[in-house]
Amino acid sequence: MRTKIIWSLIIGLAYLSSTTTSEATLISDKCDVCHTMHNSQDGLEMSFNTGPNPSLLRNDCIGCHTGTNITDSFPFVLDTSEELDYGTTGTEGTTNTLAGGNFYWVVSTDSTGHNVTGVTTLEDQTHGLVPPGGTALDERLTCAGQYGCHGDRSESDQFTAMKYSHHYTKPLLWQDGSTIAKSYRFLDGIQGFGHTTYEYLPSQTSHNKYYGKDRSAETDTATGTISSLCSQCHADFHNGSGNVASGTFGGGVWFRHPTDFDMGRASAGNEFNSYNGGSGTSNPYSVISPVATANTGASVNQTVYTVSDDAIVMCLSCHRPHGTPYSSLLRWNYKGWPSDGYNGCAKCHTLKD
Ligand code: HEC
Ligand code: HEC
Ligand code: HEC
Ligand code: HEC
Ligand code: HEC
Repeated sequence: MRTKIIWSLIIGLAYLSSTTTSEATLISDKCDVCHTMHNSQDGLEMSFNTGPNPSLLRNDCIGCHTGTNITDSFPFVLDTSEELDYGTTGTEGTTNTLAGGNFYWVVSTDSTGHNVTGVTTLEDQTHGLVPPGGTALDERLTCAGQYGCHGDRSESDQFTAMKYSHHYTKPLLWQDGSTIAKSYRFLDGIQGFGHTTYEYLPSQTSHNKYYGKDRSAETDTATGTISSLCSQCHADFHNGSGNVASGTFGGGVWFRHPTDFDMGRASAGNEFNSYNGGSGTSNPYSVISPVATANTGASVNQTVYTVSDDAIVMCLSCHRPHGTPYSSLLRWNYKGWPSDGYNGCAKCHTLKD
């Protein structure tokens, strides 16, 4: 693992010197930062390699994406060092995790992350291969492809699933999901736009923009939303007749927490109007409990309740997909509160703090 970290630092530095910070596109004239033609130098296997790898790459997905995040480093999703700091909500000034969280904690505690092959040696000892709410996968989770979240989910090979992705990133434009490369974080068909530094030290004005849809019925699958990605495996947690809410959205009693549901539906005086300390018009966006928007414009949503359908509850309002220090990949320590932990629920349920 040490070699992976050293490797990460080396490519991180090479990357820094080859791009400007604001327009961090991947296409580099330094092909050898990521590729090796024969995995051979002076008759010896290249150092810092795990190869040979598909697409003549010097490392695999997890290898390249392992390291400690610093300003403008590659996006690291597995940190194996003690440098990792989540803080209380993963948004404080000293934290060095990214928007998706980190796989660090799942290595020792199953319930804190997705047990991805290559990150953990064993499958989840509680859930096995079954995504709660959905049906069992045939194999363990991977980063990409058929058993993963990224890339073409009909491809069995992870690299084939990600073909033509890394060479095309346009961080500041809306990604419409029309190809893998034009999908939010290479999540096939998902829309949004990714913060250039992956929410390394996010703020109200500097963060990801997630696509959401105010669903009109529980069976409405909301194609293209970030929550619909989760629903591909966790079906009932997002949709399913009779499982989500009783009757139509906006009325009745909920069976599972509403998702892809706009808080703008709340009537005047309702607690949701005070989301993140606002008053129901132009409330500040919260990076602690973010909301999705139906607005596909090319600007960051710094406020909510500004345009229609821009205060949409989504799976990522409460979870981080790679993992957190807390059970169920929660963004804050929900179960520890109030004696310990943090009540992020109160970002929305403002009368329940
Ligand atoms: C490719 C299928 C797949 C997708 C897509 C997926 N998950 Fe999962 N998820 C699983 C599987 C399998 C498990 C159970 C095994 C495990 O935890 O590794 C799981 C477990 C979980 C758990 C429980 C963890 C635990 O150990 O108790 C949470 C919470 C979760 N997923 C949230 C999400 C969220 C949020 C999304 C969307 C960002 C998502 N998942 C997308 C397959 C998936
Ligand atoms: C920062 C890492 C990185 C750099 C730099 C990089 N590549 Fe890649 N390249 C990848 C990854 C990851 C893949 C596999 C996933 C994909 O297809 O996007 C890939 C795939 C490819 C492929 C096969 C898929 C395709 O798009 O045709 C070719 C060919 C390729 N790279 C050539 C190059 C050349 C030539 C350069 C230099 C101009 C270069 N790469 C620079 C990371 C990189
Ligand atoms: C050779 C190193 C390398 C390999 C191998 C690699 N990546 Fe990457 N990946 C990168 C770099 C560098 C970036 C940052 C690109 C940028 O900022 O423009 C990146 C970016 C990403 C992103 C974020 C894209 C975005 O929205 O900006 C995802 C998702 C991703 N990689 C997934 C994967 C998966 C899945 C695999 C395995 C199939 C993989 N990577 C293999 C180096 C690599
Ligand atoms: C309002 C916050 C919130 C939202 C939104 C949310 N969850 Fe959760 N989720 C939780 C909490 C809290 C838990 C911990 C268990 C509990 O209290 O029910 C949890 C647990 C889970 C689990 C683990 C269940 C188990 O059996 O271990 C999965 C899987 C999951 N959520 C997936 C999702 C998916 C997928 C979405 C989007 C469709 C989603 N969640 C939206 C708060 C949320
Ligand atoms: C991003 C905003 C948001 C966050 C964060 C959030 N909620 Fe909610 N919650 C909502 C909305 C919107 C509703 C739907 C209210 C309605 O239909 O009247 C809801 C409904 C509920 C309900 C059902 C109420 C009913 O009328 O049936 C409960 C219970 C609940 N939330 C608990 C929680 C808990 C516990 C957390 C933290 C783990 C949490 N929520 C986090 C927005 C949020």
